[in-house]
Amino acid sequence: MIMKLAPSILSANFAKLLEDVKKVENAGCEYLHIDVMDGHFVPNITLGPALVKSLREDVNMVFDVHLMIENPDMYIKEFALAGADIITVHQEACTHLHRTIQNIKACGKKVGVALNPATPIETIKHVIQDVDMVLIMTVNPGFGGQSFIEEMICKIKELKSLIDSKKLNIDIQVDGGINPDNVSKVIKAGANVVVAGSAIFNSENIQQTVKKFRENAIS
Ligand code: DX5
Ligand code: ZN
Repeated sequence: MIMKLAPSILSANFAKLLEDVKKVENAGCEYLHIDVMDGHFVPNITLGPALVKSLREDVNMVFDVHLMIENPDMYIKEFALAGADIITVHQEACTHLHRTIQNIKACGKKVGVALNPATPIETIKHVIQDVDMVLIMTVNPGFGGQSFIEEMICKIKELKSLIDSKKLNIDIQVDGGINPDNVSKVIKAGANVVVAGSAIFNSENIQQTVKKFRENAIS
């Protein structure tokens, strides 16, 4: 599978957000990763549906909305109406994960389920057939610019073999601490959707960095 790159706007300049987003769109990135944080599920607060709606008017990338919030069911419809294409919820935030997955599907959106580093693959074994994407957090969610947790390579491999054993066609997304130097090992382990925040938005030349990600992913 070909790698899709999903720059995370968490590391963009919020005062010049559209300008920054246009840079990654023009560099050919497929997804725009939108990190929604509520200050409860994670110790940080970011943005809501209004911002997604405003960006939607000017951006054609796939909107990949990563909900790091408690009670995600309360907001799924709002994010769907605002223009999300993929809505990802955390396994740890959903008491009735199967129901939440169906709620996202009922809005006509693609479904992602995210797992924190300490959450085993086993916890989604019985719902995986209903999802479009599984997000393996490779840092503890909450902030950009953290270091990649090496143990997550085993977890990506474990997920890949579960997906293959069930003969499913599900994307494996990785999020946290990914840069051009370590992208090849997540791809080799089985990931095909790569989130990168600080490595892209803090780089001097976004176009060059995106190119490096792609070159290194296949090497
Ligand atoms: C972390 C967020 C990530 C974050 C990644 O909680 O989910 O999407 O922006 O940032 P980097 O790539 O800098 O680790
Ligand atoms: Zn994220």
